[in-house]
Amino acid sequence: MNKNQELLARREQLLGTGNPLFYEDPLHLVKGEGVWLYDADGRKYLDCYNNVPSVGHCHPHVVEALCEQARTLNIHTRYLHENILDYAERLLQKLDPSLDRVMLACTGSEANEQAMRMARHYTGGTGFICTDASYHGNTSLVAQLSAIFEPIEGYADFIRMVKWPDSYRCLDDLEGEALATAYADCVKAAIDSMHEAGIKLAGMLVCPIYANEGLSDVLPSYLQQAVKHVHDAGGVFIADEVQSAFGRTGTFWGHEQAGVVPDIMTLGKPMGAGHPISGVIARSEIIDGYRNAAMYFNTFGGNPVSCAAALAVLDVLDQESLVENAAEVGDYVLKGFKGLQDKHDIIGDVRGSGLFFGIDMVKDQATKEAAPIETKALVNKMRHAGVLMSNIGALDNVLKLRPPLPFSKENADYLLEILDQQLSSL
Ligand SMILES: Cc1ncc(COP(=O)(O)O)c(C=O)c1O
Repeated sequence: MNKNQELLARREQLLGTGNPLFYEDPLHLVKGEGVWLYDADGRKYLDCYNNVPSVGHCHPHVVEALCEQARTLNIHTRYLHENILDYAERLLQKLDPSLDRVMLACTGSEANEQAMRMARHYTGGTGFICTDASYHGNTSLVAQLSAIFEPIEGYADFIRMVKWPDSYRCLDDLEGEALATAYADCVKAAIDSMHEAGIKLAGMLVCPIYANEGLSDVLPSYLQQAVKHVHDAGGVFIADEVQSAFGRTGTFWGHEQAGVVPDIMTLGKPMGAGHPISGVIARSEIIDGYRNAAMYFNTFGGNPVSCAAALAVLDVLDQESLVENAAEVGDYVLKGFKGLQDKHDIIGDVRGSGLFFGIDMVKDQATKEAAPIETKALVNKMRHAGVLMSNIGALDNVLKLRPPLPFSKENADYLLEILDQQLSSL
């Protein structure tokens, strides 16, 4: 038995089966630095997947801030401390002034759970709308919004899933504004169906860039029209920015891409560069009423060490101009992918913004038939060639790439070269 087989056997014995792992030949990683990861044999991989350490693996400024605070004090959140206030202040400075309250937690699921509960409290409704290819977390309420993993309890009657705004396999073969309106009409139809069932809408919860659905180039007027339908029905719009925030899209927030200001937004993954911290941001009228009614308290959410890490992430984003880098290098990579699309028939569509890309793989460009088996094979080939990525999407056929934000044009050239080689070998 080699070392990896030994670890796999231990893992299965101790954690049980069903703990997902990436790649047919799983990786045993032991070190990370910038955009690079290293395995136990000392082999180096270009990380084109991980958005949690989005300021770069083990960034020295974040590590130092974390250690310094851990050496000084870490305690639960019912004492006064500056870190949580400094952090809340710096987040709010980057947002529309209507969003004026911050609530901290530890995971994206928890943030979405709180967002849904406060939407219900604020609107008096119970119903939620999500897309038909969504994932938003693993608590029992949030699992109701998971189209890709059916909840073990089955779906409740208060959920309506609308067609996700796919810009490649377009609804009724429409384009442009007509397509955006057709998808928004699906939201209106979902609200009508809820009303017919006697269910009042609480809100619509979607990722503003449809990160798990497979990314979309549908015009921003889709979400603008959809949010208007939601508001007209007395509901709120919750932007799940667990993947899309903190510069990933080349703008600081994902909702800037969609041209809407959410009523509530949720944050997670890259917030603490791997340290577990998440958040909900909303108008005070929404958060305050809920906090008082629900007595929300979170032992770890917003503790001094988590906030020190999150503050350091904001420092690095600003000091290293990483949002601007995501926009600039992102455009460069996107052009490179479009070049590969001209060369390789298996690439049906290339989408994305900033340093978040989806490459839609097809068996046939004319029919747009998805190629999930080939996509998975390519992900595994890339792993063996030393570049890490994954696949997602409603049809499991979208190569998903989200490298750490310090990704350079040199890194991009390396990625494009290896991808070109591996596509040719498929
Ligand atoms: C869009 C989105 N929201 C929420 C979550 C849940 O976050 P967590 O795993 O931190 O609970 C995820 C996780 O993948 C996600 O992709």
